[in-house]
Amino acid sequence: MKRLTVKDIKAKKNTTPIVCLTSYSAPFTKIIDEHADLILVGDSVGMVLYGMESTLGVSIDMMCNHGKCVVDSSSKSCVVVDMPFGSYQESKELAFKNASEILKRTGCAAVKIEGGTHMEETVSFLTERGIAVMGHIGLQPQSVNKDGGYRYHGKTLDEREKIIEDARALERAGAFAIVLEGITMSLANEITLLLSIPTIGIGASKNCDGQVLVTEDMAGLLGSQVPKFVKLYGNMAEELENSVKSYASDVRLRKFPEKENCFDIVETVKIKEVIY
Ligand code: KIV
Repeated sequence: MKRLTVKDIKAKKNTTPIVCLTSYSAPFTKIIDEHADLILVGDSVGMVLYGMESTLGVSIDMMCNHGKCVVDSSSKSCVVVDMPFGSYQESKELAFKNASEILKRTGCAAVKIEGGTHMEETVSFLTERGIAVMGHIGLQPQSVNKDGGYRYHGKTLDEREKIIEDARALERAGAFAIVLEGITMSLANEITLLLSIPTIGIGASKNCDGQVLVTEDMAGLLGSQVPKFVKLYGNMAEELENSVKSYASDVRLRKFPEKENCFDIVETVKIKEVIY
């Protein structure tokens, strides 16, 4: 099957909801690719895989390494890679340099950047030069320090108007889709109706054109503190813990490895024949 392009994703506005999940590794990507339209290699990788406190410590190298792995192990979904903190905010020229590096090194279809009106010029600069951009407004994890934590946005009239203006600015600048994170249901509805490009919600209600979740969150790999906006679709942590427990017990009782897990001399010779 042909890989979905950003044009295909854009054309899904007002049709079927867009399915998006995050992925950072080959085994997860191979499963997700079968079922998703969009795969986001999010900078949440820093917190989810590397155990960082926030996404601020994520580097371009990290995004490129995980991004390439996700592109190489998928064939059907459109892959978007996050631009990490510090790689685009300083100037539109720096944003172009780093976005083109991410595109070249990963083969992804588009980059995602956080920010609204203050990023309009940068997004225009990128899209006018052939780079597909996904926007990200509402709760912006890269601004966690300025915003004083991870909190819902759009509860006051002023905030609402600001976020609507952010959405309009990104559309004007040529973004092909916008992630709406942590905003109220009615605001998500208003923005989705207002824009001609798809909105992808996370903690933003089903009023959006699509949904994204961090895969480890929804599959129950991140422990007992499940955020309100996440629905648990599995319990991978429990499954993994049971496997690890059984393995540890088998090793201690000398029940693993068994004969069928070992090589005898004939098989060892065969392996050498293949290698040399
Ligand atoms: O980094 C990420 O995973 C994201 C999504 C949660 C939208 O930006």
